[in-house]
Amino acid sequence: MEQLKSHGKWSGKWTFILAATGSAVGLGNIWGFPYMAGTNGGGAFVLIYLACILIIGLPIMMAEIVIGRRASSSPVNSMKSAALDSNRSSNWQLIGWGGLVAGILILSFYSVLAGICINYIFISALPDLQLSSEEQFSITTSSASNLLIWHTVFILVTAGVIASGIKNGIGRFVRVLMPLLGFILILMVLNAVINGDFLRGLQFLFSPDFSQVNPQTFLSAMGQAFFSLSLGMGAIMTYGAYMSDDQKILSTSITVGGLDTLVALMAGLAIFPIIFASGLEVNSGGVGLVFITLSQTFETMFLGQVFGPLFFILLVIASLSSSISLLEPSVAYFSEKNIISRKSAAFIFGFLAWFLGIGSVLSFNILSDFQLLGDRTILDSIVFIGNNLLLPLGGLFVAIFVGWFMKKELIQEQLQLSDGFLNTWYFFIRFVAPIAVGAILITQI
Ligand code: PFF
Repeated sequence: MEQLKSHGKWSGKWTFILAATGSAVGLGNIWGFPYMAGTNGGGAFVLIYLACILIIGLPIMMAEIVIGRRASSSPVNSMKSAALDSNRSSNWQLIGWGGLVAGILILSFYSVLAGICINYIFISALPDLQLSSEEQFSITTSSASNLLIWHTVFILVTAGVIASGIKNGIGRFVRVLMPLLGFILILMVLNAVINGDFLRGLQFLFSPDFSQVNPQTFLSAMGQAFFSLSLGMGAIMTYGAYMSDDQKILSTSITVGGLDTLVALMAGLAIFPIIFASGLEVNSGGVGLVFITLSQTFETMFLGQVFGPLFFILLVIASLSSSISLLEPSVAYFSEKNIISRKSAAFIFGFLAWFLGIGSVLSFNILSDFQLLGDRTILDSIVFIGNNLLLPLGGLFVAIFVGWFMKKELIQEQLQLSDGFLNTWYFFIRFVAPIAVGAILITQI
């Protein structure tokens, strides 16, 4: 293969763990998982979710790291190198290309949502008590220029961190901010223990109701596990490319998957008890849960003007550490080919995501009635293409390629597992993961 420019490596084992955990922990953990668990059978859902992380998520995460680390390059070139070294067609690099496209698409709406979170740091610090939280949210989102400003700020910070490089940009960012994220989350849980209806929160999240479990529960759990671990678009593959050769892939993946799940559970324990204590009910996830229900809770809660902004800072850190991993694969590809510098690539592709994000901005206001795919707004259509189609498709092909087409020696060189573990991993990546991810894909369409 042609000579590619080297990106360098993470400084230290923990930097990979923090970066990959940063990618994994995002809006999905904080406003997605807890609501899904609470309304889909509580503890029963949590158990199914854990099983999905273990038997589908971790094997695919390991496969992505194997491909990335052996070539130390972007998903496109890592896939190409793995395919050529296994005497397969270089067309397998299309999986890498799909990842770059998915990353930019997902970043385009993720940034708009994260931008609203930045805006809410200020809104929750100085709430206008004349307005209900619904009115406040509607005023905030009905102004396209307001959303555009925060979307711009978010993309600029994302591109700025990436432009500073692997060690001094992303590495330094996650080493400082991920521990801060953990600290804020612990504070929020403590607050929920002291000021919230903690027992009811625990019950909502964990008391198992197996009568609610149906085939759809399994699909939701698989989809959520997949999105939450940032699989299927080369984010983890790219981060794996900067991982040192002596780091163990199995134990590192278990650590990342464990931390991601821990954050999702803690987010539920931070959120639900305070909502219940203020006499409100949980009737939606996502945007409604955070900007309406929780915002109303902060308005009346003891020290709400401190915990409100803290919570939104938590969301912003979580989304920034994810957005970086959405943009990095494209930047890695164009800078390693020496087509443009890392700095230019960061801002050019950041601009592209920003531009596409305008469609999501307008979905909240001027174009809220405009339907793109079926009855979906522009925002919902991009979410659908990125999350529901491209991610599972990427994951499916990674599993098929690694399980059936890549040379075993190349894989074992990276994994260095005992025979028993290697065979177990092969079983999951060859059979279980493709069937499960294929099922998610078919039912989404
Ligand atoms: N894992 C992130 C979340 O749970 O919010 C979302 C995400 C980030 C998906 C990066 C994919 C990705 F590459």
